[in-house]
Amino acid sequence: MQVRPYSPEKDRAAAHRIWYEVGWLRDTSKAEAMDIFIEGGRALVADFDGEAECLAASMPGTMRYLDEDLPWSCVTAVATSRVARKQGLAASLTAQLVAADAAEGALVAGLGIFEQGYYDRLGFGTGVYEHWLSFDPAQLAVDVAPPMPRRLTPDDWERVHAAFLARRRGHGSITVTPPEFTQGRILRIPGHTFGLGYEDGPGGEISHHLWALAEGVNGPYFILWMTYQTRAQFLELMALLRGLGDQVRVVRMREPEGVQLQDLIRQPLRFRKLTRHADFENTNHASAYLQMRICDLPGCLERTHLRGGEARFNLKLSDPITRFVDEGAPWRGIGGDYVVTLGPCSGAEPGTDPALPTLTASVGAFTRLWLGVRPATGLAFTDALSGPDALLETLDHVLCLPTPRPDWEI
Ligand SMILES: CC(C)(COP(=O)(O)OP(=O)(O)OC[C@H]1O[C@@H](n2cnc3c(N)ncnc32)[C@H](O)[C@@H]1OP(=O)(O)O)[C@@H](O)C(=O)NCCC(=O)NCCS
Repeated sequence: MQVRPYSPEKDRAAAHRIWYEVGWLRDTSKAEAMDIFIEGGRALVADFDGEAECLAASMPGTMRYLDEDLPWSCVTAVATSRVARKQGLAASLTAQLVAADAAEGALVAGLGIFEQGYYDRLGFGTGVYEHWLSFDPAQLAVDVAPPMPRRLTPDDWERVHAAFLARRRGHGSITVTPPEFTQGRILRIPGHTFGLGYEDGPGGEISHHLWALAEGVNGPYFILWMTYQTRAQFLELMALLRGLGDQVRVVRMREPEGVQLQDLIRQPLRFRKLTRHADFENTNHASAYLQMRICDLPGCLERTHLRGGEARFNLKLSDPITRFVDEGAPWRGIGGDYVVTLGPCSGAEPGTDPALPTLTASVGAFTRLWLGVRPATGLAFTDALSGPDALLETLDHVLCLPTPRPDWEI
């Protein structure tokens, strides 16, 4: 196996074949979208017999931690052809991709998972549940008369990307910097999609908008994303959805960051029962399908300013990614012993202080703790994290954070 950077001239055809074989490129007219997506960031391939059989790609971005934007690496794609499965290619390429991004300054890395467990082997920890609600848009309790929106098309990809970057953001929210991410994504979505939005920015920028996939006259309509900067803009978009409710019987969307969407739905439980097992079933499904990992512990903690209390402890951190990264690489994971302070002024220094209690954790579990996915006492029940009860309880108080929502499908 040889791992090397993806070369558009040499590897395009093999990359298309890999994506075709895994089912991501059913329609060859979408191949250009794939090229845009892959070539907009870093990509590595692994060769067998001179042909690329595995491809992994990433793009740079940011992840917000309270009020700080940390450099973040987004692993955008990992796929192995049918002939090269279970040779360790995908794990090795993903590890080397993360290592390269971390060596260039990414403090955190993240990805979407096909299943729990696979990327845990590279130190990733599972994020929070995302709620996906299906509801009748006519039942939206939004007392707003929205102005007529603009019709947005795939040609607006650059402005749509700018709207993503300028959207209202909360703790844990991510951005992906290259606009090719949005361009490739818009072009890749199969089926009938449409965008509706408003251009209330000072220079006519898209201030708020939504992008949807429509199935049939009566729906469902899948809201693929929505961006806005203010409460009024959010309500205008929800009112737009309500306005489609004369014919559309069900809309499916991810619960937006910071709100409880059920607040805006009339009689949600009645409709849930009435539509049970029906074509237009009203539901609320939760699932956690994004994972994150810290790539630089001192770097992350230097920018961690918690809002109350302080905890100081030894951290014995294990990082399983090390075994997948070449010995000579400049970054090989972050396992080791640290003295950690968490508080308004946080930090991590290599070493051990015998006067302090000790927390033992995998990097995935510690990342979840630091982000606020679950409290220390809960993680100690189910994840690779342990320590004295008094320390865990102190951490529960100190790391009392808003729900970390990436708020961007990757
Ligand atoms: C996911 C995928 C990239 C893995 O490719 P691969 O090169 O075969 O992966 P590796 O050889 O590195 O790893 C395979 C190992 O992971 C293990 N594994 C698979 N799923 C796992 C899970 N959920 N938890 C833990 N281990 C898992 C396999 O059992 C196998 O173990 P073995 O080597 O001991 O038999 C490949 O299946 C693929 O291309 N799938 C379709 C596209 C896709 O879903 N990509 C991932 C997007 S997030």
